[in-house]
Amino acid sequence: MYKNIRAAVMGSINMDFIMSMEKMPECGENIVGNTYSYANGGKGANQATALKKLGAAVKMIGKVADDTNGHSLINNLNSLGIDTTAVAADGDVTGLAVIMLDSEGKNRIVVYEGANAQIDPKAASDAVDGTLDLLLVQFETNEEAVIATVNKAVEEKIITVVDCGPAKNFSLEKMQGVTIITPNESETKALTGISPDTQESILSASKILEERSKAKYVVLKLGSRGCSVWDGTKLKIMPTYPSDVVDTTAAGDCFTAAMALEYAVSGDIYKACDMGNKSGSIAVSRLGADASMPTYEELINF
Ligand code: RIB
Repeated sequence: MYKNIRAAVMGSINMDFIMSMEKMPECGENIVGNTYSYANGGKGANQATALKKLGAAVKMIGKVADDTNGHSLINNLNSLGIDTTAVAADGDVTGLAVIMLDSEGKNRIVVYEGANAQIDPKAASDAVDGTLDLLLVQFETNEEAVIATVNKAVEEKIITVVDCGPAKNFSLEKMQGVTIITPNESETKALTGISPDTQESILSASKILEERSKAKYVVLKLGSRGCSVWDGTKLKIMPTYPSDVVDTTAAGDCFTAAMALEYAVSGDIYKACDMGNKSGSIAVSRLGADASMPTYEELINF
């Protein structure tokens, strides 16, 4: 178990509404779905759950509303043993994601940010202190809260991992010197203008991301192709492991959490990315967001 790591995640907490269907509707088309369900989600909460299932001590920093979904999501995090004392419950409405899932496991997601966009930057950064080993953030909350939290973590010399989801051109220049920046393909395009389709384009995009963020490592998540690692001098592509795809939702969250945790333990970015690849492969073979995250035993036996 990754037992001795104290991690914090500053990020979104959503209720996910998942509708499964044979194939996505075209614009203007009205179709019949197969099943629907509600699940715990949000990129931040998913990453907190993944870290916890792998054995870390985890503190969640974020915001919900004092409503039914907010209560249910906090109860779930508490039941997993995640510290929620830094989650405020005074937002206007708890975040909601509508996820359309087709029979090939591909999804389309629309998020109503609600409380996630109302996080107090000072309260969030105050929750980060030198007792932590690791901080994870994503871009599904207000930009000011991300920047304040990351800058505090860099100041405290905490390993800081920036997951760039969802895709947007975030002000990376306002938070310099993070440890790892890790966008997926569409997020890379949004941040650099480059689609990471070839070795050359992966290298060009990685260099732009390094320049913009001054990150020690740039790790691009390349979906079924695995990931790439740029350390400032060398580019390495690391293929992922085959699996039967059921649902790709939160596979990136799972990758980020496992990669970050292994890096915090070993300091080895390649071992870390291998764990990320394994973790993502397990996640895509299961339905849902937080429910698809593997335990440490599942990960090392994969
Ligand atoms: O990364 C997957 C997550 O994105 C889902 O759980 C959904 O809440 C959206 O935020």
